[in-house]
Amino acid sequence: MKKILTLSIASILALSMAACGGNTDEQINEDTSNTTTDEKVLIMGTNAAFPPYEYYENNEIVGIDAEVAEKIAKKLGYTLQIEDMEFDSIITAVQTGKIDMGMAGMTVTEDRLENVIFSDSYATGIQSVIVKEDSDIKSIDDLEGKKIGVQTSTTGDIYSTDDYGDEYVERYSKGADAVAALAAGKIDCVIIDNEPAKSFVAANEGLKILDTEYAVEDYAICFAKDNTELRDEVNQALNELIEDGTVQDIIDKYIPAE
Ligand code: ARG
Repeated sequence: MKKILTLSIASILALSMAACGGNTDEQINEDTSNTTTDEKVLIMGTNAAFPPYEYYENNEIVGIDAEVAEKIAKKLGYTLQIEDMEFDSIITAVQTGKIDMGMAGMTVTEDRLENVIFSDSYATGIQSVIVKEDSDIKSIDDLEGKKIGVQTSTTGDIYSTDDYGDEYVERYSKGADAVAALAAGKIDCVIIDNEPAKSFVAANEGLKILDTEYAVEDYAICFAKDNTELRDEVNQALNELIEDGTVQDIIDKYIPAE
């Protein structure tokens, strides 16, 4: 419905990146220089500022996506290598072959499907609204005319830009920066996925999440359009891990039942 603007920006980025030429071979050689030559490496791109899906713990990227990807790689005989990048670089990196797949709590959308293909879904996400505890925003109906903080190029960004207008949306490279701006009173709310929202609210005084949900979405792994082979391989492994309960165990470990 509404994502034409984002699409064209993504396409322009893709073209300019392609012009610069992502060098897959160089990347692989560089990063596997101290491993045996017959090792198959699977490069996953993510944005490790999105707890509990991907974040840093003791200088290491951990989280639901990191662990599920590790299991998938293991099943398929790959060594997983995780590359941290801006969220809005992931699709271009996949398209140019800089990375093999993008896994970042990424929502499947019609627009993204113009540029990449997705695995089956492995989790559900909800777009939530974070406000100050004493905010006059009581529900989604009160967002008109408010300053809304988002992480750049996320579905929170795309939907709120469509629904409330570009001039009301403040974009930040990390969700945590948007939440810090809210805590500092620079914006009126933040629209972001529910689980990171919980973790950011827990880390800041005086914030709460509205009860009403803004959108419900499916998370999946993205691949270059012509890489159906890897996508199918990953789907096979992913579905086995869903069926034997491994994916749910990983989710439960990071999102304990309330
Ligand atoms: N689910 C949202 C989207 O796909 C946000 C994902 C942000 N992920 C991240 N690792 N920062 O747009």
